[in-house]
Amino acid sequence: MTQKVTITIDGKTTELPVLAATEGKNVVDVRGLIAEGIFTYDPGFLSTASCDSKITYIDGDAGILMYRGYPIEQLADNSNHLEVAYLLLNGELPTPTEYESFVASIKGHQDIDQNFQGIFNGFTQGAHPMSMIGAAISGLASLYHEETDIDNAQDRMTTAHRLIAKIPTLAAMAYKHGRGEAFIAPDDSLSYAENFLNMCFGTAGEAPNVSPTIAAAMDKIFILHADHEQNASTSTVRMAGSTDCNPYAAIAAGVSALWGPSHGGANEAVLDMLNEIGDESRVEEFVNKAKDKNDPFKLMGFGHRVYKNFDPRATVMQDSCHAVLAEQGVEDEPLLKVAQKLEKIAREDSYFIERKLYPNIDFYSGITLKAVGIPTELFTVIFTLGRMPGWITHWNEMLSEPYKIARPRQLYLGESKRDFKNLAER
Ligand code: ACO
Repeated sequence: MTQKVTITIDGKTTELPVLAATEGKNVVDVRGLIAEGIFTYDPGFLSTASCDSKITYIDGDAGILMYRGYPIEQLADNSNHLEVAYLLLNGELPTPTEYESFVASIKGHQDIDQNFQGIFNGFTQGAHPMSMIGAAISGLASLYHEETDIDNAQDRMTTAHRLIAKIPTLAAMAYKHGRGEAFIAPDDSLSYAENFLNMCFGTAGEAPNVSPTIAAAMDKIFILHADHEQNASTSTVRMAGSTDCNPYAAIAAGVSALWGPSHGGANEAVLDMLNEIGDESRVEEFVNKAKDKNDPFKLMGFGHRVYKNFDPRATVMQDSCHAVLAEQGVEDEPLLKVAQKLEKIAREDSYFIERKLYPNIDFYSGITLKAVGIPTELFTVIFTLGRMPGWITHWNEMLSEPYKIARPRQLYLGESKRDFKNLAER
């Protein structure tokens, strides 16, 4: 039976339908309220579904994350990032032939136009790679604007392949520019993760020499970050895309949103925080700072808007993190010891338990990346690589159905009407 909700305002009753979800919570459809002259108020969208979607399902209380119905744990254990990207984009896992052709298409789009590479020269050497990547992705619009018809499904898919293929190359170029080193061209013989690592840490003119352990850890990180339904950066991509802007511009908007320390920048912020704490003996002092309401300090890598039980990605990453630490033989690294003590205290402290603040994926991915020697400034870049299939899939999903420009309302609390006074009268 169809559920309904009735609300009565100033004696007038309005009936609102409830839309049924295939999994999780049904939602009250408030679209009819505007006809009654009523708006709803929900800063930060805590209780608002901004769209319907068939891509990713999260149950934050039960700690469930599924891409197209497949549990994240199964994908992380058995799949690889390009297969997951195909799944997100197409809704089904690929057959062997479909997989082969998808991988070939991605490899075919990896190169960056020679002239376009000059974009990096406009940046100072100390520029954060996320600023370069945002600009470079936006700049791709200049190469493909005329030939991209966003109403054409095939063009949208080509855009998706291009972005998934080119983001490792652009990210590695940003990194190499920051180090004043020569770019390394993509290598078709390597896997997606190996190629990225080689373009970042290889030496121009030398044969690739990528550790399989590090490549496997990297691929797992990509899978775990590939999508997370309507998070801040994905919502940003949808919002920008709803204006019918060029898709590269919409994705660049997502890159900007991801950069913030409350979102994708958290993995870098975790390492900055560990460095600031510096020694195991200071962990309690920082835990107390995080609990002090008069101190803005927060424990980076703890808490999540949706996961109030545990983050299933953090569980997968925690196992992978401990395996990497053991294999690299770096368990005694002072910063990693600080991390382990922090994790233990925060898990036992009533402040964190009552507020359901658990270590999130950024906590473990930050530590894993540090353990395998990845420079901190690349952490959020790696998140960007992982999230690309999610962003572009959401953009494509939105454009595949009728949609509206995203245009929220507000509760106005400013001045009422008043008359202008000339400067001399003020
Ligand atoms: N350290 C200390 N206290 C915290 C933390 C933290 N990391 N996170 C939340 N709290 C406290 C808040 O002060 C608040 O306390 P109160 O109820 O006494 O006022 C309570 O926990 C609830 O916090 P909210 O800010 O309402 O939670 P929200 O869902 O809005 O925020 C967020 C979630 C932004 C992730 C927050 O927990 C945070 O800033 N964490 C640190 C940054 C981080 O790790 N971000 C990564 C997010 S995951 C991702 O993007 C992949």
